[in-house]
Amino acid sequence: MSEPMESLLHVEHLRQTFVSGHGSRKRTVHAVDDVSFDVYPAETFGLVGESGCGKTTTGRTIIRLYDPTGGKVTFDGREISGPMNKELRKYLSDNIAMIFQDPIESLNPRMTIEEIVGEGLKLRGVTNKSERHVQVVEMLHRVGLTEEHASRYPHEFSGGQRQRIGIARAMIVHPRMIIADEPVSALDVSIQAQVINLLNDLKKEMGLTILFIAHNLSVVKYFSDRIGVMYYGKLVEVARSGDLYDHPLHPYTRALLSAIPEPNPLTERHRVRLDYDPARDHDYSREQPQMREVAPDHYLYCSESEYEKAVRSLEKA
Ligand SMILES: Nc1ncnc2c1ncn2[C@@H]1O[C@H](COP(=O)(O)OP(=O)(O)O)[C@@H](O)[C@H]1O
Ligand SMILES: [Mg+2]
Repeated sequence: MSEPMESLLHVEHLRQTFVSGHGSRKRTVHAVDDVSFDVYPAETFGLVGESGCGKTTTGRTIIRLYDPTGGKVTFDGREISGPMNKELRKYLSDNIAMIFQDPIESLNPRMTIEEIVGEGLKLRGVTNKSERHVQVVEMLHRVGLTEEHASRYPHEFSGGQRQRIGIARAMIVHPRMIIADEPVSALDVSIQAQVINLLNDLKKEMGLTILFIAHNLSVVKYFSDRIGVMYYGKLVEVARSGDLYDHPLHPYTRALLSAIPEPNPLTERHRVRLDYDPARDHDYSREQPQMREVAPDHYLYCSESEYEKAVRSLEKA
């Protein structure tokens, strides 16, 4: 048997709880509720689930925009979930960059593209302006923009171009991992593929590892190596993409898959959309669910009897 590959990002029992209001109006949201997964070097891991299930919070907690309520995160073997200090802040910004959903909200309207993309270099002590300019222009070319764009402002660009600027800003310091939080959800369908192709090319060229967040499976289907499906703060299934599409085990994964439109109008007409109803689909009154490995590298959040049923269904498949 071959040695299991070392993961680059290891997330273990991660929790993020938000408390808002007080007294009788106090509300507690378990945005991320005991989530564990690994992302391996040079792979794309898709994190998928409907709006509000905790995807953004997972990404933001990993990169320490929030302090975790519980659990542990390591990157290349080093813990990144412990007490924050200058050294850890630098380690994080050297290694992990985030690309946001809304490129207009995440780009400072008063900064030029040169300033926005060059900021990471400045923070890393590249004080020479012409040296920064050379690197900024190189990165702009790399993402499909030109030197003339450097002196312009974010509002002068289309949505797709802004997302390219966001990617250039993230990539300029050559991070080892990118957390892309729904980077194409705000873009026209025709532009989505271009941005995804760009991320894929950068990944291949630079050996980049990507955590790609999306709210539906159609976007991540073709380029994720592995996929984690999230429902109300919990990961319910994690598998290699092919296994997830061919043998989805969790009823919520099946519901998400049934929502993907078929390109063929004949099959599309007969497509049956499934819904997921936890109260109907599970009986957890006597058996508690937990994450179990149902087949090699295929994990399912399930009870003991669901586990046995899933194993039998995979044997038949
Ligand atoms: N800063 C916050 N304060 C309070 N609640 C939050 C905060 N951020 C997110 N939430 C809540 O946490 C849950 C998960 O949100 P989010 O991570 O944004 O989901 P997703 O990205 O999957 O749409 C939601 O119920 C959301 O309202
Ligand atoms: Mg989100």
